[in-house]
Amino acid sequence: MTPYRTYPCLVGALAEDIPLKDGSVDIVLFATSLDHIEDEDAAIDECRRVLKPGGRIIFWQGLYDPRVMASAKTFEPIFFGRWWRPWAAVAEYVYFAHRLRKLRRKLEKNIPLDDVHARYYTRERFDESLARWKLRKTREIAVPNSTGLFAEAVPR
Ligand SMILES: C[S@@+](CC[C@H](N)C(=O)[O-])C[C@H]1O[C@@H](n2cnc3c(N)ncnc32)[C@H](O)[C@@H]1O
Repeated sequence: MTPYRTYPCLVGALAEDIPLKDGSVDIVLFATSLDHIEDEDAAIDECRRVLKPGGRIIFWQGLYDPRVMASAKTFEPIFFGRWWRPWAAVAEYVYFAHRLRKLRRKLEKNIPLDDVHARYYTRERFDESLARWKLRKTREIAVPNSTGLFAEAVPR
């Protein structure tokens, strides 16, 4: 039985080739998927094509950004918890700093971090991409203590 939907179901479709008519949708959402898409420029061109005039693109994007990851880390475990917690936290922080340095080196050299992402957005790379796609950011929420970013953008 086919469930009733008020929206088209595009199972199996690719963002680079969206099976929707020109100017037919109000909003396009990338839910932690933009960095998995092989040809992001083609996907954004497709979004532009299917959006109605005044339509918006919402990005829900996790950032692989050592700076954002560092500021998401809190000092809370050092000050609260059992007597041994501060000692464990110091060891954890030293290891975390080592991991961040490794991450920064890999990002600088464009070395893949895994085999499921096509690219890794830092805050800077994400903003540069929006500018390249001629999208104007209209709203943004950086989720506190996390690397999650929500951004709304409209074609210029
Ligand atoms: C991290 S998952 C996110 C899944 C889902 N959006 C969610 O919030 O649970 C990344 C998704 O990107 C999808 N994806 C990868 N390449 C794609 C492409 N070219 N077009 C559309 N989706 C793609 C994958 O199928 C995968 O489901």
